[in-house]
Parts: sequence; C-alpha cells; structure tokens
Amino acid sequence: VSQPIQTQILPVVYQPDDSSYQQAIQIASKAIQAGQLVAFPTETVYGLGANALSAEAIARIYIAKQRPTSDPVIAHIAHIDQLQQLATNIPSIAYDLAEAFWAGALTMVLKRGENVPANIATGLETVAVRFPSHPIAHDLIKASGVPIAAPSANTFTRPSATTPEHVLEDLDGRIEFILAGGSTTIGLESTVIDLTASRPRILRPGGITVDEILRVIPDADYSPQFTAKETPTSAPGQMLKHYSPRAQVILYHGERNATLEAMYQTALEQIAQGKTVGLLITQEDQARLAGIGVPYLLGGQTDLETISRNLFAGLRYLDSQNVDLILAHDFGDSGLGVALWDRLHRAAEGNIIYL
Ligand code: TXA
Ligand code: MG
Repeated sequence: VSQPIQTQILPVVYQPDDSSYQQAIQIASKAIQAGQLVAFPTETVYGLGANALSAEAIARIYIAKQRPTSDPVIAHIAHIDQLQQLATNIPSIAYDLAEAFWAGALTMVLKRGENVPANIATGLETVAVRFPSHPIAHDLIKASGVPIAAPSANTFTRPSATTPEHVLEDLDGRIEFILAGGSTTIGLESTVIDLTASRPRILRPGGITVDEILRVIPDADYSPQFTAKETPTSAPGQMLKHYSPRAQVILYHGERNATLEAMYQTALEQIAQGKTVGLLITQEDQARLAGIGVPYLLGGQTDLETISRNLFAGLRYLDSQNVDLILAHDFGDSGLGVALWDRLHRAAEGNIIYL
C-alpha cells in the first residue's frame, strides 16, 4: 500500500535574480531528479512532470492522473540539443518546424531514441517532443538536467488545468509539488504533429494553428477524428470523451442568431424541467441570453485568444456551480476556432446540434 502524498505548493513568480524563485526551482528540480512528480506551468496548460528518462518516474504519471497506459506522454526540452537525446532519424522538416514555432505550443512526434523509456509512448516506437516557451518551465527543465515527461496536469478525461488551483482540485495528495506560477496564457494544449509517416499529420490542433503549420509544411494533413473508443495501437489521444466537465455539454454549430435562439429555447425547456443550465458564451451573446441560466463569459466573440485562454476555466467554473447541463457554441473554423471546436466537440462527447 502506497503512502498518501503530501502535495506541497511552491508559489513562484518568474524573477531570475530572486533567491526565493531560485530556491523553488531547486526544490522542484531535485524532486524531478529523485523520480517525484512536479506540476508546473507552461504557456499552454499546466504539465504533470517527471524525469523523462526514468521508466519508474513515467509510470507514476499514469497512476497520479488515473490515465490508461495506452495514451502516451510528451517529453519537454529546454535546449534544441536535447532533441537528439530523445529522437533519432529526425527529418529536416522537424528543424523547419522548430525554427518556426519553438519555443512554443508545438509538439512533434518522432522516432524514439534508444535511451528513452518505452512507457513514455506506451510501447510505440515514437516519442512526442515539445520545447515550451514558459520561462518557469524552461528553468525547471534546465535545472533538472533531464527532459521532463508531462501530460496535462488534470485527472484523466477532465478539462486541462490552466491555474494551480485546477491542478490542486484534481491532483492534491497524488503528486509531490506544484510550482504555482499563475494562469497559463494560451489555455489550450499544444498542436501535435506526427512526422514519422510519409505525410506529416496533425494529430491534435492546438495553440499553433493549422494555418500556421501549413505555411511551413504545405502538405501536412489534418483530418479530425473523433472515435468513441481508444484503440491502443492506432492514433492515441483521439478518444471522444476528453476535456469533459461533470455536466453534460451540448454544442451548437451554425449561424449565430439561429444558434442563440436554439440555446435560449433549450435553456428555457430544461429550466422548466428543474435543471440548472450553464451557458459558456461570449460578451456579445449575453444580451440575447440575459436572465436565464448560469453564464460564464469567455470573452469577446472575435477574440479567440481570450476565449481559448478561458475555455477550460469556464468548464470547471460551471461544474463548480453544479449545473446539470452546459450549452456552448462553436467559434468558426479558422485560426484557434479549429482547436476550440476540437476541445468542445470532445467535451460534448459528440452531443452536437447542427443548425
Ligand atoms: O500543451 C501541451 O501539449 C501540454 C503541456 C503540458 O505541454 N501537454 C499535454 O499533454 O497536453 P497530454 O498528455 O495531455 O496530451 C498529449 C497528446 C495526447 O493526445 C497524446 O496522445 C499525444 O499527445 N501523444 C503523445 N505522445 C505521442 C506519440 N508518441 N504518438 C502519438 N501521439 C502522442
Ligand atoms: Mg491532456
């Protein structure tokens, strides 16, 4: 029987010359070296970190997250030289992508190097690598002296964590440390691209948009797949139920006025049946939906960066209000709208109304 873990919070503000900042990085990096689990901020979402070169440390990630061992984990680096430590047969387009988007919200799937434990990629012959731009993530990786394996710091299938409070909500008593460095800025996970097939394939749209990728690799493929069941051997991470709040989500897709009208009618019907209805909406939607349900305002309708930053916090907030149902709508199919659609689609588990 394993001992319960006392989760320690290390508050940090990025101040490289400050001794208490350096001390927190030291404590966290020693923990990584000792095979412990440390949640840390990145520019996308919080990561649940462990030594990426230790099979035992990686195994602990799956247990803490309650994640099936069929879903592989990303290795995070803080220097481009660490790429060769993790991967082999690196194609030149990997360097083109690194040049364009690293440090940043892009993860590349490459052929796994022989020093990297197989359980980081659930036995696949690949490894996913990302070079985050967040300075605290950067300092933690450098001080640890090893790449850091980290999935998003949420319990399996829950919305990703964009604040230290979200991490604590899901992982208190399951990990040793949280480097509590405020809210993350992008709020959606990185874009994952597989470079091991003959044609580069975007596995998950994210903080770097599909359009941005296509500018560097014009033949990259993005064909969204929302399969109902995880199949360990095919594309990992494509499972439909993902990013899910406890409440049921209904996602509306269509012309804006028709969408708001349908959301309004559904909210009225559900409230009449005694249900509590949450509304994941924009500032502009507020007037049409005034006076019904529990609103969470994501931001301005055309400000997809703010909407992305607030999405997971919004899902978690509405859960905390004990709503039975969350009504949300799409944000178009360009720019960050693609990643927003992917996350909302999964949060809704395919429960979508096309108008
Ligand atoms: O922004 C992010 O990517 C965050 C921060 C912490 O870096 N991390 C993150 O990790 O979102 P996670 O584990 O929640 O999602 C990683 C995704 C999963 O969909 C996983 O299936 C995919 O990347 N992935 C990881 N390794 C892979 C591999 N070897 N082959 C294919 N897909 C892989
Ligand atoms: Mg995740």
